[in-house]
Amino acid sequence: MKILLATQKPFAAAAVKGITDILEAAGHEVVKLEKYAEQQDLVAAVADAEALIIRSDKVTAEVLDAAPKLKIVVRAGAGYDNVDLEAATAHGVVVMNTPGQNSNAVAELALGLMIFMARTHFTPATGSELQGKRLGVQAYGNVGRLVGQKARALGMEISALDPFLTDEQIVAGGAAPVHSVEELYANSDYLSIHIPALPSTIKSIGYDLIMRMPKGATLVNTARKEVIDEEGLFRALSEREDLKYVTDVMPDNYDRLTKNFGYRVFATPKKMGAQTSEANVNAGLAAARQIVDFFATGNRKFQVNK
Ligand code: 3PG
Repeated sequence: MKILLATQKPFAAAAVKGITDILEAAGHEVVKLEKYAEQQDLVAAVADAEALIIRSDKVTAEVLDAAPKLKIVVRAGAGYDNVDLEAATAHGVVVMNTPGQNSNAVAELALGLMIFMARTHFTPATGSELQGKRLGVQAYGNVGRLVGQKARALGMEISALDPFLTDEQIVAGGAAPVHSVEELYANSDYLSIHIPALPSTIKSIGYDLIMRMPKGATLVNTARKEVIDEEGLFRALSEREDLKYVTDVMPDNYDRLTKNFGYRVFATPKKMGAQTSEANVNAGLAAARQIVDFFATGNRKFQVNK
């Protein structure tokens, strides 16, 4: 089978080698499209692909229309909001993710961003410490749980909201369960977002919620920019000089935010949460193995468009 590895933000070399070795050992052919400039480059490259490995690359209806031989797309990572699932299903294409494989990298970055903000962007200005502060985790899945566990080791008090988990499961994960998003925001000095971008979550974090945060609070977003209502965020930051926002997913209005709020806002230049060689190897090799298994045995364990 012809497998296309299409990554606008390429994997580390070790991951690319590992992916290639696994696929070639199973008799597949690997074609690479890395750092491509235009979406049209992906549309052209899928013409004869039978399987596709991607990261945040956009698999739109146009891409799927241009890929008549495509049988499977594996998003090497957790969030699959970049894949048009309906179009994939209509084309009979199986879509999978590789849950948990890059979670540790994202969790470490979330903690790093908190320290960066607490220590005033690593300037000599007087900062503050995470120890003793309250961390609220919005969604206690693979990443959220790791953030909670690591933050606990730093002496933070952890609470978490997750409608898919029981109180017992949240307690077992080291956090105090919270049952409403309002309560979570109201009691968190740091609020770490780990919800996916879905129609129900898009723009769900806005003015009202952010204004509930306690004095001096920091909102941390390593999830998706779409879950923030950016106008609401802007208004809250305008009215509350004590609030801060730090993110790994660049807001659309970042220039306006930094111009108005300076050091109270920070975004990484390019989403880097999962950009460690370990995460690249974990997610990339898992994607390659899932493809080998799918063609060999029909295994669809991680299919997300069921
Ligand atoms: C994910 O959903 O797995 C993360 O957002 C990482 O995305 P990336 O592979 O594009 O860095």
